[in-house]
Amino acid sequence: MSERIVVLGAGQMGSGIAHVFAQAGYPTTVQDVADAALARSQKLISGLLDKAVDKGKMAPEARGATLANLTWATSLDAVKDAALVVEAVVENLEAKQALWQQVSALAPSDAVLASNTSSLPITQLGASVAHPERFIGMHFMNPVPVMQLVEVIKGFLTTDEVHRKVLAWARAVGKTPVTVEDAPGFIANRILMPMINEAVFCLAEGISTREDIDTVMKLGMNHPMGPLTLADFIGLDTCLAIMEVLHRDLGDDKYRPAPLLRKMVQAGLYGRKSGRGFYDYREAK
Ligand code: CAA
Repeated sequence: MSERIVVLGAGQMGSGIAHVFAQAGYPTTVQDVADAALARSQKLISGLLDKAVDKGKMAPEARGATLANLTWATSLDAVKDAALVVEAVVENLEAKQALWQQVSALAPSDAVLASNTSSLPITQLGASVAHPERFIGMHFMNPVPVMQLVEVIKGFLTTDEVHRKVLAWARAVGKTPVTVEDAPGFIANRILMPMINEAVFCLAEGISTREDIDTVMKLGMNHPMGPLTLADFIGLDTCLAIMEVLHRDLGDDKYRPAPLLRKMVQAGLYGRKSGRGFYDYREAK
């Protein structure tokens, strides 16, 4: 039997990660404390599979096989026979540490434990598990089924064997892994977030409109989305949290979050997920 993958957290990232493992043939369990989140995840994945079949990009049998590989659980007992646990819960150090403490007590001692954190230190998260040498970062990009990259982050104690296994899993689900050191924001967010932050400064300073700022980066740099649209897509709360990590941990004021970004998060304007960010999505809904 193939190795079992357990994904903790049924949000956008957790669903995408479960989707790609199940589609690659791995028996995959999605665990979340909330039944409603599991139901949403199930609907999201089956909707994407239906669309792929309708477009002729996937055989109906492959859709059926992917769904058959997926199971859903609210209990953490799901990790008891895991070969790999990928955690994609809320981006909060204390919440992740508390969860990992419980998971590492239940998972087999040789299971690989991976966090999809976008900015928290892997070494510090790893310190909350028994046998931190099996802890690693596996950072997928959103939307997971589409984006090719996985950043693989070795913690201070991660073994070469665990690193090799994770590179192999990333390749097995069709992704291209890149290994990076455990440094604030890794590579993706170290470069992406200051660009988004700078776009917010440009908007706040009245240098141009939101549409024109996005157009400059789309047409001038061939980015698929402009930075303000992308910020709405990622979530403004997530962008702010990552900028705060960069600012604090690198200790350089060039990473200070744009006050407008902070204000919008305080106002609950999180982007797509809340219906409003730099753009308004409420009517489209
Ligand atoms: N889930 C799964 N598939 C999706 C999707 C989603 N949420 N959104 C779009 N797709 C698929 C579509 O089904 C379509 O597939 P086919 O080509 O097989 O038909 C394909 O993506 C293209 O979609 P569309 O034609 O509808 O739209 P598009 O051409 O505008 O592409 C996009 C959408 C792929 C999201 C593109 O705009 C893009 O690449 N944007 C940039 C995304 C990005 O930068 N992601 C990284 C964010 S940073 C991050 O994730 C790290 C972090 O820690 C914050």
